[in-house]
Amino acid sequence: MTKRYYCKRLNETLDFDALKVFYCCGTRTGPACDIPKPKEIKNIIKKRNSLIKQLDRGNIPIECEGCFDLKEQTKPKPLLLSFFCKPPKAKMIIVKHFKQCDCSCVYCCEQYLSGRKIVLKSKKSDYYDLLPVIKELYKQKMIDKKELDVHFQGGNVSVLDEFEDLVNIFIENGVKRIEIATNGIKYLPVIDDIAKKTFVDLNISIDSGCRETFQKIKTVDKFEEVKENLKKYVKLPVLLRLKYILVRGYNDNKEEIEKYINLMKEIGITNSELMIDQCDKDFIQNGEFKIPDYYYELFSFYKEKCIQSGINPTIWEYIEEILKKGSFFK
Ligand SMILES: C[S@@+](CC[C@H](N)C(=O)[O-])C[C@H]1O[C@@H](n2cnc3c(N)ncnc32)[C@H](O)[C@@H]1O
Ligand code: SF4
Ligand code: SF4
Repeated sequence: MTKRYYCKRLNETLDFDALKVFYCCGTRTGPACDIPKPKEIKNIIKKRNSLIKQLDRGNIPIECEGCFDLKEQTKPKPLLLSFFCKPPKAKMIIVKHFKQCDCSCVYCCEQYLSGRKIVLKSKKSDYYDLLPVIKELYKQKMIDKKELDVHFQGGNVSVLDEFEDLVNIFIENGVKRIEIATNGIKYLPVIDDIAKKTFVDLNISIDSGCRETFQKIKTVDKFEEVKENLKKYVKLPVLLRLKYILVRGYNDNKEEIEKYINLMKEIGITNSELMIDQCDKDFIQNGEFKIPDYYYELFSFYKEKCIQSGINPTIWEYIEEILKKGSFFK
């Protein structure tokens, strides 16, 4: 019998990037379509639905080959039935159609598009406005309002002119959860406003625990500002997570990780995430990054120190997968 497949991410996600709309998280470079005009929004959904059907018939799109999110249907319904089933509405929207930022991290995957220029004042995306597209998606009932989970990535939202309008349209429509990734350099008052209206996951990539390392990685001298903002955010009813991207030659040692954990203790932050730089120069130049042995030691050290300090040491499942495999490649 023909094997049939499905992917939860493909069923649920619309990832608005600068040049394409992806159907899953952009890190997989999965299937995508061109940015439609708001009135042609149906094209995004049509293409996604044809991909869902393609998998259901056992044909794996080239972009999905080898992806660990691709699952075989264990109890497949007859093809005829699933053909007439209503295609799922979007449950996750990723906002990253802008690349401007008020710092320029040495590791940033997004900076190749923005030319590493530091932007201090709010401005429009260099690519397109997302607000009209979201309005049209709501109008055409293509969003699962009750289940919607929105992730703001970018660029940095602190310099995106439509950030607050976007947050507000999601709030007005009863969004279930909003995740905001930011560098923490500028305090975002809207977080205070929405904290009581929806579940807010605020994650801040600080990648360091001292001013010197922060400056080397983020290329701006703003560690103290971030620290002050963290002290304000920690008092809000939000899930506050601090992030540390392991960047070779910058912060890939126990001393730096310990300083980072001490900073969390000092401020009272109890959630942390350790990541691997996915734009490591070996990966960019040779197409493969082999995880060095000492990384495994750093991950164990991180887990142990976090637990000792009452901090929850999250490691993203994708990173766990990479650690198991021992490398990641194009
Ligand atoms: C591109 S950033 C945009 C949001 C925000 N400016 C920030 O830094 O959190 C989105 C997320 O991607 C992560 N990221 C960026 N470049 C990365 C890399 N080379 N490896 C792993 N994560 C990366 C950031 O740490 C952040 O959590
Ligand atoms: S199978 Fe993988 S690459 Fe394909 S849509 Fe799903 S998450 Fe993306
Ligand atoms: S703060 Fe975020 S968007 Fe800005 S350079 Fe760093 S990782 Fe990139």
